[in-house]
Amino acid sequence: MTLRNILIHPDPRLKAETDPVTAVTDDLRALADDMLETMYHAPGIGLAAPQIGVMQQLLVMDCDKDEDSAGRPMVLLNPVVTWTSEETSTYEEGCLSIPDQYADVVRPTAVEVEWLGLDGDTHREKFDGLWATCVQHEIDHLHGKLFIDYLKPLKRQMITRKMQKLKREKARA
Ligand code: NI
Repeated sequence: MTLRNILIHPDPRLKAETDPVTAVTDDLRALADDMLETMYHAPGIGLAAPQIGVMQQLLVMDCDKDEDSAGRPMVLLNPVVTWTSEETSTYEEGCLSIPDQYADVVRPTAVEVEWLGLDGDTHREKFDGLWATCVQHEIDHLHGKLFIDYLKPLKRQMITRKMQKLKREKARA
């Protein structure tokens, strides 16, 4: 497994639409393994393929925060939200592509998602709590949308300027 470099906002690849996965190959399985390792290492609870510059509909997540459990690593290909609750929840979100920046985002409390698994089967599951927030955040990434796109323009611009500064500093280092 290989740790992949996580793109930092602003980057055109984080604003672009991705292509559906057409076949579950060994390369794709290896990519999913790399993404899980990169996510756990960060550490984070979700990572979408465009965040490592791969423009495909693939995301990984594990929102199991129980220290005694082995976790629940999930790999979702071509995920689609098929149902959303009318009830909404507010969560303070962050993003591995926008390090150290957090803001409240309102989203449906529960969602049903359909996706293709690495086993080649179609899966459907209802998510709530942190899982619901995470899966919606990651699916947004597959369509070029970031959590800061839900914020007021001024707040979004402030965060973007901070990230531009961070990238300049990293480039000099
Ligand atoms: Ni993110």
